[in-house]
Amino acid sequence: MSLLIRNGRIVTAVDDYRADVFIEDETISHIGLDLDMDADRIIDARDKLVIPGGVDPHTHMDMPFGGTTSADDFETGTRAAAFGGTTTIIDFVVQQKGHSTLEALETWHAKAEGKACIDYGFHMIVTDMEDERLWEMRRLCDEGITSYKMFMAYPGVLYVDDGTLFRAMRKAADDGTLVCMHAENGIVIDEIVKRHLAEGKTSPRYHALTRPTRMEAEGVHRAIAIAEVAGAPVYIVHLSCADALEQVTLARDRGAPVYAETCPQYLFLDIGHYEQEGFEGAKYVMTPPLRERWNQDHLWRGLAFGDLHSIATDHCPFCFKDQKALGIDDFSKIPNGAPGVENRMSLVYNGGVVAGRISPNKFVELTSTAAAKLFGLFPKKGTIAVGSDADIVVFDPKRKETISVGNLHTHHMNVDYNAYEGMEVQGVSETVVCRGRVVVADGDWHGHSGGGNFLKRGTFDGRA
Ligand code: URP
Ligand code: ZN
Ligand code: ZN
Repeated sequence: MSLLIRNGRIVTAVDDYRADVFIEDETISHIGLDLDMDADRIIDARDKLVIPGGVDPHTHMDMPFGGTTSADDFETGTRAAAFGGTTTIIDFVVQQKGHSTLEALETWHAKAEGKACIDYGFHMIVTDMEDERLWEMRRLCDEGITSYKMFMAYPGVLYVDDGTLFRAMRKAADDGTLVCMHAENGIVIDEIVKRHLAEGKTSPRYHALTRPTRMEAEGVHRAIAIAEVAGAPVYIVHLSCADALEQVTLARDRGAPVYAETCPQYLFLDIGHYEQEGFEGAKYVMTPPLRERWNQDHLWRGLAFGDLHSIATDHCPFCFKDQKALGIDDFSKIPNGAPGVENRMSLVYNGGVVAGRISPNKFVELTSTAAAKLFGLFPKKGTIAVGSDADIVVFDPKRKETISVGNLHTHHMNVDYNAYEGMEVQGVSETVVCRGRVVVADGDWHGHSGGGNFLKRGTFDGRA
């Protein structure tokens, strides 16, 4: 099977030029001007950008959490991702406390196999790591699981203490793997939550008011300090505010190998969303919470100047009617998380490139290349080059869409609301190619469940 993408403007994290791309089976085999080659299928990309498929390094499909399970499974979630121009996700396996991480990995393989429509890798959420279990981390690395997530938040659920963090980070430093940190001081936050509930403050707005930015900044500071002593690089996930970013900047300025992601929700939504009528604010209950709008300028600066490296979604959808309602009388029982995997590329292009904040190259870096490099997928993923996997998006930089749960072009996620409802975006993924197969063309689905492969990822030594 061969595919020729003609007349497009190829944009990678570093290049921007006109050329044709020829794909044989799953791989890019030729790039050049006016390629004179026979192909089984030809796509005309005139006036379009030809960009690497998006890599979203932070999703939660089919994840038991908050007394329920995230609403997208690997089939619906990866199909929605593909519609939005994302061709690779890295999802999170959850270790059950006291049980083997390898057992958890098997469970997640079973969830994804035969269902995922795009390629996928796994991080491991480590919930305990006693000395006698440390050997599992090396085994995980051999299985292609080269990054872990650990939580300073959610005491009694996913939280790990600093000793566990340190032990795991030392082992990660030995193995060349990367620890991803949910950095918030969950112990203090839980005290604040208890006090609010005792005062009868139970509505969704208190989710934000009980999680101060200082508690995120403290978590980031502590995670970095522990990583420095352990001699390990660290990647801060879903960084939401200027306070926390300052800690990353300070650490990087002294040469520490610290990396961080933010998410569209922190760039485009704000704390005002919790003030919507009735229980509507529950739609935005995610952790960390939405922040005051002024933080967004700081995040964009961090992205533009290199202290924030990637934009992930933290896609963790729960239906408003049946799932968010678990916390109707108590905000602390609202399942934490929001949908977004489908809308990331358009949101970032519109709010970044169209708004003049970042270049098209930076857009590709933030939505694809950086995550591919940090998480051991580059150059198979994250770029357009001879020998790379043919994960390509023909992206219309002029077309506009209004994001809505009711718009069949912008919402295929299995959740009954869209966090970006009514937002108009310029820049739409038109044709999406996953390993040489056209999976989306002009809004129609051509992919299939099980079409995605599990990706055994390589290691990362912390060097930029
Ligand atoms: O609210 C969130 N972020 N839910 C998903 C779990 C996590 O902390 O990433
Ligand atoms: Zn988290
Ligand atoms: Zn998450």
